[in-house]
Amino acid sequence: MNSTLVQVPHASEIVVKTEIRVKDNANFDFPSQSSAFRTIPQAKSSRHRLDGVHAWLPYYAGFSSDFVSSILNRLSLDASSIVFDPFAGCGTTNVVCKSLSVPSIGLELNPVAYVAANAKLAWDLDRSEIVQELKKLNPTKLEARNWIQAQDQRGPSEAFDYLFSAGHEILQSHGSIRCFLLAIAVETLRKLSVGGESTNPTWPKLEPKSAKAKTAYRVFSKIVSERVTQIEKHRANASCRAEVLYADAVGFDPDFKADAVLTSPPYLNRLDYVMNFALENSYLLKLGFPVAMSIDELRGKMIGTVKIGDVPSTSSEWGGTSKEVLEGIKIHPSRAAETYYLKTVLQYFDRLHKCICMVGRSLKNDGVCLMVVRSSYFKDMEVPLALIVEEMAANAGFKEISLVREDGSGSTTSH
Ligand SMILES: C[S@@+](CC[C@H](N)C(=O)[O-])C[C@H]1O[C@@H](n2cnc3c(N)ncnc32)[C@H](O)[C@@H]1O
Repeated sequence: MNSTLVQVPHASEIVVKTEIRVKDNANFDFPSQSSAFRTIPQAKSSRHRLDGVHAWLPYYAGFSSDFVSSILNRLSLDASSIVFDPFAGCGTTNVVCKSLSVPSIGLELNPVAYVAANAKLAWDLDRSEIVQELKKLNPTKLEARNWIQAQDQRGPSEAFDYLFSAGHEILQSHGSIRCFLLAIAVETLRKLSVGGESTNPTWPKLEPKSAKAKTAYRVFSKIVSERVTQIEKHRANASCRAEVLYADAVGFDPDFKADAVLTSPPYLNRLDYVMNFALENSYLLKLGFPVAMSIDELRGKMIGTVKIGDVPSTSSEWGGTSKEVLEGIKIHPSRAAETYYLKTVLQYFDRLHKCICMVGRSLKNDGVCLMVVRSSYFKDMEVPLALIVEEMAANAGFKEISLVREDGSGSTTSH
């Protein structure tokens, strides 16, 4: 097994990356036994300016495109390869792959991220097709039946009702234009909302403000026009396969063999990806897209969720470090350590382990897997995720391990 770990010495930035090779001859350009250090850009996007399609959704945990290209450029990939990201988020891996003409597949369970990822990949659309669809969304032209459906779901403002009815109209279209336009509806909703203040910075409490339908249509049309110009720049690579599927990585059964996996699973830090975009996700789920499910049901399925479902029992396949962590939490004197936190961590380890096994099955024999992971803390106790991922991967049959460290200057080095 070969895995690569990255650790940042700054307390606020404990980032660990794990690269796992499944075969000794894996074709990856990180010298595992050398003392030479190489610098690669930081994984997280927040330190990087987002531009072009990458700026379409401000995703808290998104990769930086520089990091993804830097990794992809070290792998020998071409138009016949497949890159897989089982936690695609807002699609950075897939967008960068497509721009390098490398086919890719992603999975994502958060509706707003799934829609945004596919919108960013809709490079086949042309302006005239979009303009035609846009005309149908003019409030004066919206089909009566959509307004009637919207009335069943009355929102707090006319603009919200309009966006809901426009959403129904968009769902009648097919292909990449659906996600492209829905992502813009979501963005319009965001722009016509107020709030955002909350005790949890990753859980903004947005509410639609009072606005007219024609105001929403004007905002919508303006975003369409900006985004059409942006996707036109990518036309040359439009035919390269890149899709993000709406799927739960935990039970996913890959029917392909990937050359490389580049991904970052949710960490054990209680970040609620669904509530991070509560307003936008409520809008999409009310439309029944991509699923008809309640917000709570969806939250229960996410990896790292704070909601407890069926609590699994410990498995020796998870390795010794996870066992120590679980024992530490069990005897921890803090309130609810055993009755609540222990259950969330058990659930997290179980789901993470299933995904690592699934990733193993998705890879070709000489495939490479690179995971970006971050340790977290339960009170004063470190949960060393890199070590846990490494042990789970070893038990799942991955081979070779090597290390990558992120240096204090914020860049990433490997040795
Ligand atoms: C660290 S983020 C990945 C961000 C991504 N690298 C990017 O550039 O946007 C982890 C993602 O896993 C998703 N996720 C959580 N549970 C999942 C599950 N069971 N199946 C698929 N995706 C899931 C979250 O919604 C989140 O988008």
